[in-house]
Amino acid sequence: MIVLPRSIAAATGKPDGKIHVSDPSELLALLRWHVEAGADEAIAETPTDWTSVTLRQPVPAQAAGRAAAPPRAFAPGAGAPPARPAPAAPALAQGAPLGVREAEEGARGLAAAADSVEALRAAVEAFEGCALKRTATSTVFADGNPAARVMIVGEAPGEDEDRQGKPFVGVSGRLLDRMLGFVGLDRSSVYITNILFWRPPGNRKPNPGEIQACLPFVERHIELVSPAALLFLGGTSAGTLLGRTEGITRLRGRWFEYARPSLPKEIPSLPTYHPAFLLRQPAQKRETWRDLVSLRKRLDCL
Ligand code: URA
Repeated sequence: MIVLPRSIAAATGKPDGKIHVSDPSELLALLRWHVEAGADEAIAETPTDWTSVTLRQPVPAQAAGRAAAPPRAFAPGAGAPPARPAPAAPALAQGAPLGVREAEEGARGLAAAADSVEALRAAVEAFEGCALKRTATSTVFADGNPAARVMIVGEAPGEDEDRQGKPFVGVSGRLLDRMLGFVGLDRSSVYITNILFWRPPGNRKPNPGEIQACLPFVERHIELVSPAALLFLGGTSAGTLLGRTEGITRLRGRWFEYARPSLPKEIPSLPTYHPAFLLRQPAQKRETWRDLVSLRKRLDCL
């Protein structure tokens, strides 16, 4: 029997925190809870109970993936508290996720070799360099019309998208469809993809390594589709593809040129708020309608 810390026990639906290892369904429930919470990667051979590590204690060397550090005192007012140790770089074992640089290089090679959108889809589906693929149910590549003049890039699939294998089919997708309808667009006149092709567990934000590993595919995707205009939904998409560090509030509503040496010409690109953000902050819809009108006008004169 395993007895879980109280904080975890509550979330597993077993308030007494007792997991019977002889019951596979209880172990599976625990594993699922960890994956949903984003704990989808092992950084050490054995688990560390971080709740028992106090600020004055040295971090166990094995958990930190390095020699034990001397204790670091922290007194209130003496500056920032000591940061948790950086996780050890995962070793490249058989079947382990690739290192980020290796994954990115692999993706770049596969993406460059794809000479059509369908070949690119097959390359993404065969790619093993993004650990998210292991926890996802589906690869979510794209939806809509690859010959459309507008290409929309979101962030990452959520639960519904993971289940159906298509981007923006959940509640955010329904709002997106209504937003597009407002300016006479629908899924036959746009093409939709994401920065990541696999759902991050628990819908957490994509991390930089995941974005870097998938980026060569996204760039090649844009190149192959070669749309008249790009619409970036949210800060992850806009910041990544425009190489900008400002938040979406500063980027939205402004036209940028998406340029790559491999593209024959620059592509006019408009960042706007992500529909999931609009569901939480409906007052911002007004700004998004303005952005969409700007997109419509641009399309009409392109
Ligand atoms: N949010 C996204 O960014 N993409 C999806 O496909 C769904 C929700």
